Amino acid sequence: MIILGLNAYHGDSAACLVIDGIVVNAIEEERINRIKHWAGLPIESIKWCLSDAKINISDIDYIAVSRNPSAHLHKKILRALTKTPSLSFLKNRLSNVAKVSEIKSQIAESLNTDVSAIKAEVENVEHHLAHTGSSFLVSPYSEAACVTVDGFGDFVSVMRGIGKDNKIKILDWIEFPHSLGIFYTALTQYLGFWNYGDEYKVMGLSAYGRPVYLNEMKEIVKPKDNGLFELDTSFFLHDKEGVEMVWENGQPVIDKLFSDKLIEKFGKLRDKNEEITEHHQNIASSVQTVYEEIFFHILNDTYKKTKLENLTLAGGCIQNSLANGKITEKTLFKNIYIPPASYDAGTAIGAAMVVWNTKCHKPRRFVMEHSYLGPAFSKDEIENQISKHALEGKGHLTELIKDETILCQKAAKYIEEGKIIGWFQSRTEFGPRALGNRSILVDPRHKEMKDILNERIKRREWFRPFAPSILEEKVSEWFEQDSSVPFMEKVYKIKNEKQNLIPAVCHVDGTGRLHTVSYKSNQKFYNLINEFYKLTSIPMLLNTSFNDNEPIVNSPKDALGCFLSTKMDVLILGNFVIARDKKNV
Ligand SMILES: [Fe+2]
Repeated sequence: MIILGLNAYHGDSAACLVIDGIVVNAIEEERINRIKHWAGLPIESIKWCLSDAKINISDIDYIAVSRNPSAHLHKKILRALTKTPSLSFLKNRLSNVAKVSEIKSQIAESLNTDVSAIKAEVENVEHHLAHTGSSFLVSPYSEAACVTVDGFGDFVSVMRGIGKDNKIKILDWIEFPHSLGIFYTALTQYLGFWNYGDEYKVMGLSAYGRPVYLNEMKEIVKPKDNGLFELDTSFFLHDKEGVEMVWENGQPVIDKLFSDKLIEKFGKLRDKNEEITEHHQNIASSVQTVYEEIFFHILNDTYKKTKLENLTLAGGCIQNSLANGKITEKTLFKNIYIPPASYDAGTAIGAAMVVWNTKCHKPRRFVMEHSYLGPAFSKDEIENQISKHALEGKGHLTELIKDETILCQKAAKYIEEGKIIGWFQSRTEFGPRALGNRSILVDPRHKEMKDILNERIKRREWFRPFAPSILEEKVSEWFEQDSSVPFMEKVYKIKNEKQNLIPAVCHVDGTGRLHTVSYKSNQKFYNLINEFYKLTSIPMLLNTSFNDNEPIVNSPKDALGCFLSTKMDVLILGNFVIARDKKNV
């Protein structure tokens, strides 16, 4: 059975293929069309998934879409009857719903084929069920409590259930207008960060402040006795006239979510170019603290009701790695699985897995242990791109090192000398994190590496931390934890005595968003870190995504473009080592 999974007409559009219950590939549209968080029909991703698996659209049995226009219909109708949304809001919603319903003909049109050639049935999977599927159905657990938390999807923002073998039993959910994601996004906007997906900036900033506005925040979002929560909607606009959201053929745009009451409470909102003050830091800290309180309130109640020690999580809010890192400390859950793409891109995989497990009645046979599901490029393709860029003419030196050990030794030496390395290997990661195949790597021992990276390549805000990738067996020596974090999805405290040894990856609160690297998950990256360890006794590298404010690079062409437009010292493309001409650094 071949299933094409899609997250379409929504932010972070993506496609994947599930063949006989196994996720064989997956990619986000932004990686191909180079527009961050792109929303629309992910047609380039569909084309790539089909060509990668060497199949045609006519071979597909089901198209699984992670939205269901008829889900929670009663609530949608009730809202239409009782509220008076703006005309443009309604027009936007209706056109979006129409597109989801006509997806088969849209795919046929984009592929320049007749719709009758697509024999696949379209299966609409409710958004939060797709989130749950993206986690539980690819987790190592046969039974687990399942929780999803996001902004909204199909009118729901939280869903809780129990996963057992192939089945997911839904326990309860929270409907519009109450949403922890909307709360966090509204306060993110208030703090001057208006781009889709900017919430992680507030998370990074929160470490600099104190939660002095906790009581005020608790007036906005309140826990309920049933283990869930509610918003005081007078602080928001989404429940009144509807907030303009654009989900078509470009970067998603979400208009202002908060009402003037929020400004009355916390003062003038921050302009995006305004300096960040202690007041802003304290608001960020208070937002993060109340988010965590509500999140653990939901999880503790879930444990009470399920008595299960395994927990699977998904949804946009589960990108909050700071809260994720505290789950075992704040709840009784012992084992936690979070997939590499817990946000909406991952629902492409979730929808496909829900359909396979519903239709097939066979035991689950896939655990997502790594995220390397995207395109890889051959030596010839890389060589071809290198020659197209005429690097020799620009004075850069290119060398092919076939022996992997020598390649890793050479790369480790460059890093130890303080150079910035672009590291491009094998298949692209699915999800927001570079996990050693599309990474920029530097020495974590020098505090100034953060500033050098920002000045020469990343241009990120000063308050955002950089993350370490560490050999898995060394975690307990460096962090106050001893668990594997394969997808950089949790923040942990770095041991006090080690913090000054790795200042470039130690955040102001002494934490790091770590990525544990095992030999099994990524042999070449493991070997590189190990070579650096032999040179320095430090078993980790600073690992940041290979991009400069664009989507993470996908192809050798993207990587060469980033190398040439920034001040990266060395680019390692497969086994080719390209060293920048010293005059150009
Ligand atoms: Fe979602």
